[in-house]
Amino acid sequence: MRRFTTRQRLITMTALGATLLGGLTVLRLDAQTTDRRNPVRAAYMRAHFNQVLSMHDAVARGDLAEAKKQAAALATDGPNVPMPPGAEAFHGALTQAARDAANAATLAEAAQATATMLGTCGQCHKANSVRATVPPGKDIVIGGLVGHMLLHQKGADDLLEGLVAPSETQWVEGVRIFASPKLEAEHVPGKIRKTMAHGETELAVLAGHAAQAHRTRDRTEIYGQVLTTCGTCHRGHSRFAGPDRR
Ligand code: HEC
Ligand code: HEC
Repeated sequence: MRRFTTRQRLITMTALGATLLGGLTVLRLDAQTTDRRNPVRAAYMRAHFNQVLSMHDAVARGDLAEAKKQAAALATDGPNVPMPPGAEAFHGALTQAARDAANAATLAEAAQATATMLGTCGQCHKANSVRATVPPGKDIVIGGLVGHMLLHQKGADDLLEGLVAPSETQWVEGVRIFASPKLEAEHVPGKIRKTMAHGETELAVLAGHAAQAHRTRDRTEIYGQVLTTCGTCHRGHSRFAGPDRR
């Protein structure tokens, strides 16, 4: 359900977004602008967000090969829309993070680079006094293991929005989700009960750290660990279980 709506959103956006995601690696200085709002740039940002989300989800599924492929594409992209002054430094950092993910030898490295990238998005938004509205997720109504996973997804999305927007409220909401409801053992197939219990404990511990983290650097570090935890478990289940919002 969730995947479907996300895909719909992608379809409506791709036409415009594709023309904006040029192959330029260098920002044109004459394309700079001091306007706070620019609809073409906003469309570019949404397309870029979805590209980054595909890479992020590949990491969360534990699909390192796919994550690296997506990262390599991101490393060659550059905006061909008007950007605020000082944008080069942020884009340099984004490109570096994409390269690091493309060259990652382990899932944890790819996850850290992904988190660094998301933190950089948020730092540019903050520098420009923009609160980037991240496309909303859906409320979770189903229970059981899948329902619990969708709740994880919601928690991870909140942390992600906390980094990207950046938003204190969303970060705290993500922490709350990971710190609260536990998965009842009866909903979990016997043969993965132990693995799940381990994973749950790990995520709860990370939520504790996330609650204490205030600087972007500390938050990206923890978010990278959260993503690694999702991906490490998923890659062992039914050919990369987990999110896929391409
Ligand atoms: C160089 C600075 C800069 C960087 C880097 C940057 N953004 Fe943005 N972003 C902006 C600005 C400025 C806006 C406001 C757009 C507007 O309305 O003109 C924005 C807006 C957005 C929006 C909201 C678009 C809307 O519909 O209003 C999203 C989503 C977004 N950015 C995502 C990202 C993501 C994801 C990244 C990192 C991969 C990123 N941005 C990196 C400057 C940046
Ligand atoms: C300890 C193991 C484990 C951890 C940790 C874990 N998952 Fe999962 N996840 C699973 C399993 C097993 C499935 C397959 C469930 C099924 O289809 O029955 C799954 C499926 C999913 C799905 C797909 C649900 C659907 O629509 O079918 C999503 C989304 C998801 N996980 C998100 C996450 C996120 C985000 C994290 C990290 C914050 C995470 N999971 C951490 C084991 C884990």
